[in-house]
Amino acid sequence: MLNVDRLTRLLPISMRRKVDTLLDLINMSKEVNNSRVVLGLLPSVGRGLVLQQGRNQPSADMISGHAAHFTWDYRTDFPEMRDLYRRAKENQWNADEVLDWSTDVDPMNPEVPLLDPRFFDIDGLSVYGVRLGEKERQRFLYSIMSWVLSQFLHGEQGALLAAAQVTESVHWMDGKLYGATQVMDEGRHVEVFDRYLETKLNKLYTINDNLFVIIDALTTDSRWDMKFLGMQIMIEGLALGAFGTIFRLTSEPLLKEMLRYVIQDEARHVHFGVLALREHIAKGLSEKERVERADWAFEVALLMRNRFLMHEVYEEWFEGMMTRRQWDEAVNSTPGMIEFRRVMFSRLIPNLRYIGLMPERMHRHYAAAGLMDYYDGADASQLDHDKMMNDLENQSLESVL
Ligand SMILES: [Fe+2]
Ligand SMILES: [Fe+2]
Repeated sequence: MLNVDRLTRLLPISMRRKVDTLLDLINMSKEVNNSRVVLGLLPSVGRGLVLQQGRNQPSADMISGHAAHFTWDYRTDFPEMRDLYRRAKENQWNADEVLDWSTDVDPMNPEVPLLDPRFFDIDGLSVYGVRLGEKERQRFLYSIMSWVLSQFLHGEQGALLAAAQVTESVHWMDGKLYGATQVMDEGRHVEVFDRYLETKLNKLYTINDNLFVIIDALTTDSRWDMKFLGMQIMIEGLALGAFGTIFRLTSEPLLKEMLRYVIQDEARHVHFGVLALREHIAKGLSEKERVERADWAFEVALLMRNRFLMHEVYEEWFEGMMTRRQWDEAVNSTPGMIEFRRVMFSRLIPNLRYIGLMPERMHRHYAAAGLMDYYDGADASQLDHDKMMNDLENQSLESVL
């Protein structure tokens, strides 16, 4: 591999990006064991990674063939979901009122760190010959935070559209009512992340190619339960991991408060996801369909683990100074990313177990990926929301970094 590194270093930057993309694709195909899953993802991979539609075009149309399902009997058909709907109505919030937008945010002020410097092992980059001065470190952390929040924003748009699609296609009337509140929630999340980036950080990154691939795959899949699994379990699990990590690592009061509200909404969304899918997977699917979903969930979990590598930050800061593969290594071993993966999988794995997508036959695969440790954790139906927020607020940074 070192030889490949040396070779790519000799290429002009535009060529080097193409070679890096090709190497990425090869690595990705090696990571995925199940050829059916690869085939299913291929069109989205083509649009996202090869054509890079996310970063090259100002907008995208993703065509979906899902059915909008109507039912003319309006009786309650899922009491736990009706209960979630009631809670969702009670817990709506207005970002104009509950957040103090007059807060002065200075991303370069080390007294109120936008992102705890321990998030990224900047000194560790010195093995690649990269050293940053004090001001540059601050600016680098500002770039990282802007990148992370930009991806939250793009992910929230994906969630908004997916929630609308799921609301159309889900069969339970209580699911449609609950879904309507989630559409509102996700709209509010788009609003607050956009407002924060636009008025406080003044820096917006394009959507990450890998995030584009996942959103494209879910949006264009016509099966409602695949959208549901992808969005409500996988992406929401990823989001909760990321929001929780950033919540703990920022001292900026407006962002912290904003995340506190968003996390409470997201926890409800995952709860909705596990309720619906547990029922559907147990009663609405054939054995063959169950196998397909279990395989898909495993492969996508692994893909999500190592693919949010801030390449746009790399291109801005270090392209030409170190190779992308070196950067990937640095990001994957940095404390903030390790913590983010820990929180993500500690939520995701118990939820997959709860909805019935971790059959016995998959255990050895999860164990080989080092993910079975999370198997007995609390799933979203057991999780006490207040306790979760308490844990997030009270766990010391030293214990997580
Ligand atoms: Fe959201
Ligand atoms: Fe959500």
